[in-house]
Order: sequence, then C-alpha cells, then structure tokens
Amino acid sequence: MAAVPSLDQLLSQAPVRGQRVFVRADLNVPTKNGVVGDDTRIRATLPTLRRLASAGARVIVASHLGRPKGKADPQYSLAPVAKRLSELLGMPVVFVPDCVGAAAESAVEKLPSGGVALLENLRFHAEEEKNDPTFARRLAALADVYVNDAFGTAHRAHASTAGMVGLVPRVAAGDLLQAELQHLRVVLEPIRPLVCVLGGAKVSDKIAVLEALAERADVLAIGGAMAYTFLRAEGEPTGSSRVEEDHVSDARRVLQAAAGAGRRILLPVDHVVAEKLSADTPSRVAKQIPDGWLGVDIGPETAAIYAAEVRKAGTVFWNGPMGVFEIESFAKGTEAVARAIADSKAVSVVGGGDSLAAVNKLGLGSRVTHLSTGGGASLEFVQGLTLPGVAALER
Ligand code: 3PG
Repeated sequence: MAAVPSLDQLLSQAPVRGQRVFVRADLNVPTKNGVVGDDTRIRATLPTLRRLASAGARVIVASHLGRPKGKADPQYSLAPVAKRLSELLGMPVVFVPDCVGAAAESAVEKLPSGGVALLENLRFHAEEEKNDPTFARRLAALADVYVNDAFGTAHRAHASTAGMVGLVPRVAAGDLLQAELQHLRVVLEPIRPLVCVLGGAKVSDKIAVLEALAERADVLAIGGAMAYTFLRAEGEPTGSSRVEEDHVSDARRVLQAAAGAGRRILLPVDHVVAEKLSADTPSRVAKQIPDGWLGVDIGPETAAIYAAEVRKAGTVFWNGPMGVFEIESFAKGTEAVARAIADSKAVSVVGGGDSLAAVNKLGLGSRVTHLSTGGGASLEFVQGLTLPGVAALER
C-alpha cells in the first residue's frame, strides 16, 4: 500500500495561506426540523478544519447528507450542519446553497484566508454518486488543495471522494481519516485473540465481512436478527423471528468457513422473546424460540458468554446491536457487550451508528480505544478491502 500523504506533510511542504483547500468531510449526521441530532461526526472533523483555518487556508468543506437521490431536497440540506459547525468551531461558517456553479464559485472567491465555508449537499447532484468526470472537474475547479477527512464515505467511489482527487495538484488525508486508518489497521494485524462481535438485522448486508472475519477472527460472536438466519442454518427453531430465507445457505457457508479455518463462531444459546415487536408487549427469556414468538435480543446467558470472550481478547472489533436496542427492554444484550468492551484490557474498535449510540448512551466512550465514525467503511476496511477514497490519495 502506497503511503497516504498526511496533513502534517501537506502543511510542512508549502504554505496553504490564501490557498483554496477543499475538505471532503462526512457530515452525514441525523437532522430533524432543521436541528442536528448526534453531532459526533462534525466534532470528529474539527481538528482538521481548525488546523487548516489556523494555517490561513480558505477552507471549503463539502459533504453529503442522507440519500436525496440526485435532487435538491430541503430535508437533506446541510444548512443546519453549517450552523452547528459554526457553533463548534466558534467562528462564522458561510453556508453556500450549491456545491458547484456560480454560487459556489463566488462564495469561494470571497472567502478570506482562515475563513470556512460549507457547500450544500453534494448528493443534490446525481453526478456525485455516479463519479461523473465533468462534475468531478467542476468540484476540482474550486480547489488548489484537496483534503479527504471523510472516513465514513471512503468506501464510496464518488466524484468528491475519488473522481476529483487526481485533478487537484496537492492532496492529503485529514487527521480523522489518518487516525481511523491507523486504529482500524489493528484489526487487520491484531493482538490475539481477536474477538469480533457482529450484530444487526441482516446477514445479506454483512455477508462479505462475515466471510472474511469467520476465517480471521479467533472468535466471531453473532447477535441481532442475523443470528436467527444462522440458527436456522443450524436447524434450530426460530419461531416467528426475522429469518432471511434466501441467505440461510450463506450463513451455512460462513459456519463452514470458520470450521475449516479452525475458528469459533458463537451463536446465541438463549434469547429474549416477544410476541410482537413493540415496547408494551410482554417478553421473556427462552432457551429456544417458541412458535409464534420472535427473538428480540440475545439472552442473559449468551450475553455472559460473549462478555467473557471479550474480556479474554487481545483485540476486539464490534459492529451492530445484539437486539432491538431502541426498545429499552430489548437493549440489555447490546449494553452487556458495550460494558464488556469498556471493561476489557483489549485494544477495542467499535463502528456503526447503533453500536456507537449504545456506547455513548452508557457514557463508556472514553473506555473504548477507538470509536469509528464509519459504519460501512469500517466493515470494508476490516475485510482487507481497499477503500476507493483512500486509494485515490495513494499516488
Ligand atoms: C454512512 O453513514 O455510512 C456514510 O455517510 C455513507 O453513507 P451512504 O451509505 O449513504 O453512502
């Protein structure tokens, strides 16, 4: 892997004072009625923005928000993010109502040294996700220097993460991107035993990472609804649980791959079961899921087994909740995993919005080695895949 130029290298090579520095950030944060919810991703990119602004760069920040399908749609506007960014930076942030064209060009032209502007959602243009070369040229025309700090989007080959990179003379990875790569590399070269805990709803979303980790992790503990597809593959009763019938054979392949590589896959040995998926429905713990009931969380015995493995680990990687953790009474399995990771002496990496939310809700963030801002990106990275956003910088 060629080296990715760092911000330190960029800033030591030649001054950026007065230069137009285009920063691709991942400011894809939840917003509701014009107000930002969890602002972790905005905070995570502040060090890069502050360093560039202090060095006198004209900082042009660009991001996507949500999936607006290539059309301007006010519910996906980055305007609330500009407001929050300005509060967090403690300086004005010019909000630019389009990421290309006359509005963007004139805003960039007027931006003073040390000033920060945030462009409107890149995905208001369908060309962004298509990595359209003309669109990439229009973005590149705004920049003398390109900095990628969008780890969460590094697995997408889009115009702003890949296409424009080769068109800007000076490029670097921002501090967040650099830190993410450094911490996630630990999962590829782990202190053993490597214990991976994977949860979430669907086997189909995570099949590639399941296959990769089944062979690489010493222990792969599975929770969330995807565990039921695995239990079906093992011939266990699953009641009315969410099983992806089309992916039972994939689950079987993952189990065989682990067995072939001499690795252990752990599946739930007990469950929290409910008759419906709602907060007011009665629930109980069961060793086997009865007919007409559905699994909504791993049970206490399973949580204890997973926690014990996490405590013995040299390295832990966790992505995805163990149950329907938005509902308090189905959140105990996810919370047990979060607590075990916080208590463990292992190098720990947690990725994915739900797992991060669980860690933060319990106030355990400072006891995890690395909280990744990337969900899909971190999963692709730990599979050993090259992320297009990183590859574009390696030249
Ligand atoms: C994410 O939230 O995972 C990133 O911002 C990427 O978003 P996407 O899955 O819509 O490309």
